Amino acid sequence: MEKKLCVLGFESSCDETGVALVELRGAGVPLLLAHALYSQVEMHQAYGGVVPELASRDHIRRVLPLTEQVLAESGRTLADVDVLAFTRGPGLAGALLVGAGVACALAAALGKPVLGVHHLEGHLLSPFLSADPPEFPFVALLVSGGHTQLMRVDGVGRYQILGETIDDAAGEAFDKSAKLLGLGYPGGPALSRLAQHGNPAAFKLPRPLLHSDNLDFSFAGLKTAVMVQARKCAAAQSCQVEALPIDTLADLAASTQAAIVEVLVKKSLAALKQTNLKRLVVAGGVGANRPLRDHLNGQCAQRGIRVHYPELDLCTDNGAMIAMAAAMRLQSGQQEASAVYAFDVKPRWPLDAIFIS
Ligand code: KG4
Ligand code: ZN
Repeated sequence: MEKKLCVLGFESSCDETGVALVELRGAGVPLLLAHALYSQVEMHQAYGGVVPELASRDHIRRVLPLTEQVLAESGRTLADVDVLAFTRGPGLAGALLVGAGVACALAAALGKPVLGVHHLEGHLLSPFLSADPPEFPFVALLVSGGHTQLMRVDGVGRYQILGETIDDAAGEAFDKSAKLLGLGYPGGPALSRLAQHGNPAAFKLPRPLLHSDNLDFSFAGLKTAVMVQARKCAAAQSCQVEALPIDTLADLAASTQAAIVEVLVKKSLAALKQTNLKRLVVAGGVGANRPLRDHLNGQCAQRGIRVHYPELDLCTDNGAMIAMAAAMRLQSGQQEASAVYAFDVKPRWPLDAIFIS
């Protein structure tokens, strides 16, 4: 009979508590049985960003009710769980400790093994949860709040970085630009919503490293350019940036988004050309951005390239991607779950630390 393995995964690296149950059946793509998510966005909004101590405390409040919800929705009990998985890093230390502590405590109580997962590997493999999962090999554009990387992916753990940001990540560029336009937190979705009503060609903003001969990115200068343009407009209108007319703010937002999207699309196409691969996977929170998807879809269709994304609700942080990454690591034989319950977390953890050479 086909071997089945149930993985219960916990994500708590930042401001989202995620729990999910995934079932691994032989060599097939693991199946998501249920997942539950609680976003702390509202709580942190008042502070304009994530407050780490508040995040940790809220993870503690949410994690067990979410676990009960996932078990109830999947019709399983803890006795059905074979492996416990958690985000080991990178992320906020206190927040990571909540997921790690709960996973290891449950594992110890149940006598089941445990596996720590790299958060970015979770994002990277999240498109395998979609209705249209990719096949290896592919080029991956990983665009989250803290990372912007282009990778060649040949299998689980077989990753090669082709290029990455030398300063700010794309998500950071969205968030910082949104903040200085007074759009609050989280900035990416807010800026993108406002940009729908603006003219992307209204302001000339830099496209950093667009024509460089490598696949690296640089977004730090963009927020400065946005700030300069916004202040110019504000000076002309004798007001603060936040008090600019909504049309001007929308034009600034649309121009910012257009600059980020153009660079991400061009570099992704260059990576596909360089590797001669015909498949692109986009993962991480910025992958939820509609214009980015539209531009990539259009450009790739012209070149016979298939693009895969995670489902929209699994682009940002969630437990499903952690359970999925753990299941795929186990399935590929790249890692075994451990019966040692003394856990540690890795707030800083470069992705290449888990590469298989
Ligand atoms: O992957 P993620 O949820 O968390 C990290 O691991 O960092 O990514 C969060 C990032 C934030 O910078 C957020 O502003 C951005 O993804 N983001 C978006 C959109 N949705 C989330 N950026 C642009 N457009 C969106 N629709
Ligand atoms: Zn993330």
